[in-house]
Amino acid sequence: MTNSRRKFISSISMLAATTAVPLSAFSFGKSKKLKIALVGTGVRGTSFWGKRLVDQYSDILEFVGLCDINPGRLEYGKEYIGTSCRTFTDFEEMVKKTKPELVIVTTKDSTHHEYIIKGLEMGCDVLTEKPLTTDEIKCQAILDAERKSDKKLIVGFNYRWSPYATKVKELIMNNAIGKLVSVDFHWYLNTYHGASYFRRWHGEMESGGSLWVHKSTHHFDLLNWWIDSEPSEVFAYGDLEFYGKNGPFKGEKCRTCEHKHDCKFHWDITKDERMMKLYANHENHDGYIRDNCLFREDIDIYDKMSAQVKYANNTVLNYSLTTYSPYEGWRMGINGTEGRIEAWQDIPYFKNDSIDEAEKHAKEMAQTGKEELTYEPVILHKLWNKHETIQVGLEKSGHGGGDKRLHDKIFKNPETVDEYGRTAGVRDGAMSILIGIGARRSIESGQPIKISDLTDLKPKVQRG
Ligand SMILES: NC(=O)c1ccc[n+]([C@@H]2O[C@H](COP(=O)([O-])OP(=O)(O)OC[C@H]3O[C@@H](n4cnc5c(N)ncnc54)[C@H](O)[C@@H]3O)[C@@H](O)[C@H]2O)c1
Repeated sequence: MTNSRRKFISSISMLAATTAVPLSAFSFGKSKKLKIALVGTGVRGTSFWGKRLVDQYSDILEFVGLCDINPGRLEYGKEYIGTSCRTFTDFEEMVKKTKPELVIVTTKDSTHHEYIIKGLEMGCDVLTEKPLTTDEIKCQAILDAERKSDKKLIVGFNYRWSPYATKVKELIMNNAIGKLVSVDFHWYLNTYHGASYFRRWHGEMESGGSLWVHKSTHHFDLLNWWIDSEPSEVFAYGDLEFYGKNGPFKGEKCRTCEHKHDCKFHWDITKDERMMKLYANHENHDGYIRDNCLFREDIDIYDKMSAQVKYANNTVLNYSLTTYSPYEGWRMGINGTEGRIEAWQDIPYFKNDSIDEAEKHAKEMAQTGKEELTYEPVILHKLWNKHETIQVGLEKSGHGGGDKRLHDKIFKNPETVDEYGRTAGVRDGAMSILIGIGARRSIESGQPIKISDLTDLKPKVQRG
């Protein structure tokens, strides 16, 4: 067995550290490359889990199959990834014919459960993109399937791997502010990135479970990991006050819209070659309009979200997500019995910076941004002391460098012991979406929701 293959096997076992049994597909003694099949050849599947794997790790893995319900996007995806593997529009046929060891799921969120469950049942290990799924019933079905299977399931969380997020974890782990008491966490999406969710399938509750799940799963996973406990109860408010039916006018799609000169959100997809090749050229197959109107009537998700979450270790969280901010960034305060941590990223006024928000969004969406370095401060303010400013170096693109580090951990440096516990398992995937699902249920019912009422998982005081 090659050294790199052994490293890969070990990395996957470590990623699944929160599950009981090491992943089975990567049994020792094999000299051949790991066989991967991917379902969902959209932007994330073709770039991060497609082309990047082929470019960086072809000595230890190979694609044996690609699948998507859109045959046009599938063929373009194959070309973009740079593989000669077979393509399928039927997942079961792909798995039967190509016998992959690992299935990667990068489809629309609401369909993750289908492929996770089928993949496990058909004898494959499965790596899924976040969010694990979009509601509590599908979540329970995934938990049941994973328990029945001798194969393993990994959730590809990348935010934990950003050096900035890791620094906050390190301070908390080192007891810098004593026992955690409360957290304020507020995330602001700008009028490019925030708006883009409302143009796409993400604007429909049925497809993405709302941004409470699709987007906040990232934030709740970070918070669960930092707080090192599991959520027990959530109460939330939310509304749709800006996008969707609230817009001043509507059109069929930006390309043909009669309001293109008046609408501040007009987006010319024809100027973006990758977006045209990935989506617009294949609309005839599935009717999916990538530059859809963000003021269309059928948008039914929230664009204003606020929640309070109580953790099993008694920490309380005040959380909000804004979807039409003039800048994109976030800020957080963590209070402990011995002090406070303040952290933020991309708040332009704090640096006296003028950021081109449109350019920043284009780089993030294309997932091709160069690894430009930047420095962001974390404040540590111990009780009775002057505050300390800690400068953390991180990349501007790829979720603060989290994307790259997640891959490197899986494929390049698997044997390094991770003292920060950044590896995320199925339970982490579930706990991060259950806060968002609970928030939705709370808005619907006007009542606080107990996380233990959603699935059979009982919140633990300490993660483990
Ligand atoms: N971790 C991150 O930072 C990150 C970033 C972007 C996207 N994502 C996740 O990656 C996934 C894909 O997102 P995307 O931005 O690439 O979306 P996308 O719309 O570009 O791609 C989704 C693909 O799934 C296909 N699809 C839809 N329903 C399907 C079905 N039933 N069976 C098979 N294929 C189906 C679509 O045709 C499309 O090609 C999502 O779950 C998203 O949450 C994660």
